[in-house]
Amino acid sequence: MAVDVSELEATAHKMVDNGRGLLAADESTGTITSRFEALDIESTEETRRTFRDLMVTTPGIEQWIGGVIMYDETVRQQVSDGTPFPKYLDSRGIVPGIKPDKGAKPLQFSEDEKYTYGLDDLPDRLEEYYELGCRFTKWRTVITVDEEQGLPSRYALRVNAQNQARCAAIAQNQGMVPVVEPEAQMKGYHSIQTAFHATREMLYHQFSELVEQRVKLEGMLLKTSMVMTGFDSDLADQAGPEEVAERTLECMYQVVPAAVPGIVFLSGGQSDQTASANLNEMVKRGPHPWTISFSYARALQGVPMEIWGGQDEKVEDAQKAFHYRARLTGAARLGEYSEDMEAQPGDVVSVEEQEMVAA
Ligand code: 13P
Repeated sequence: MAVDVSELEATAHKMVDNGRGLLAADESTGTITSRFEALDIESTEETRRTFRDLMVTTPGIEQWIGGVIMYDETVRQQVSDGTPFPKYLDSRGIVPGIKPDKGAKPLQFSEDEKYTYGLDDLPDRLEEYYELGCRFTKWRTVITVDEEQGLPSRYALRVNAQNQARCAAIAQNQGMVPVVEPEAQMKGYHSIQTAFHATREMLYHQFSELVEQRVKLEGMLLKTSMVMTGFDSDLADQAGPEEVAERTLECMYQVVPAAVPGIVFLSGGQSDQTASANLNEMVKRGPHPWTISFSYARALQGVPMEIWGGQDEKVEDAQKAFHYRARLTGAARLGEYSEDMEAQPGDVVSVEEQEMVAA
């Protein structure tokens, strides 16, 4: 089958151009269940549907959200008016996407490294997801960073890069934009310098494999981790937004080809504010060869999930919280974010958001 590169390119641009980024709402049932349980929310097919429903039906979010990554369960569910999620998103001008990987499992012959499963029946599964309306995929590989053990190993980098590129090649042949997500583990005690080297190695192997496997770089997006001090290090030792932006961009400029339309960053457990501040600093240093944007799960969903708490009467408040965070993240995506946009307890934001959501 001939691959229509211009169509893939157009989809990739639709996802991240015009000030937009991605909402990663693709937690596996296991992951969302642990997030729900931490907040005392029962995890059932219906509560998971309700949460995803309230997020995507929030009025106005298409201004900042150009694509939503879903998990298999959600792709087959409907929003409250009975419209399937992919069809509903498409009607809002938001590109529906699917995470088809089956998670990271221990890598044989390596103590602490992982590789991602799910390639075997991928062509058949993607054909079905395409029919269900999905137009992009997201495949995550996770790379262990450990200074003492000298990780990542070249072995883990190669295996994961190959798997990732396999997924990308299969996706493009199915008419779907691959969001290639190699993530250098962000927790740990490592320095920002170690994160820089690990991320650069990881992306070097990733792009060499993508090229080797003939993936059309114009028709994909890179999703990756920011270059940061390991999250377990003392707060006082953590690099601030300026250093994070400089080191991350330095890394991207060295190894990400200019043909790639966009780089979207994951939040990885950063606070909402930090995720916005870091993104903002990177955008401000532009223009860059690629669009710099976001693909956040926790930094967009955390507060709305907490406010909702599984209660129907809190749906509207949760939507306001999501609208607010999407708006600020959208400002960061344009390099227009500042800390004083953040809500103070009891601040006017709720009123402002109320008006915007009602509009
Ligand atoms: P976080 O933004 O929470 O790191 O999640 C991103 C992601 O890729 C989820 O699949």
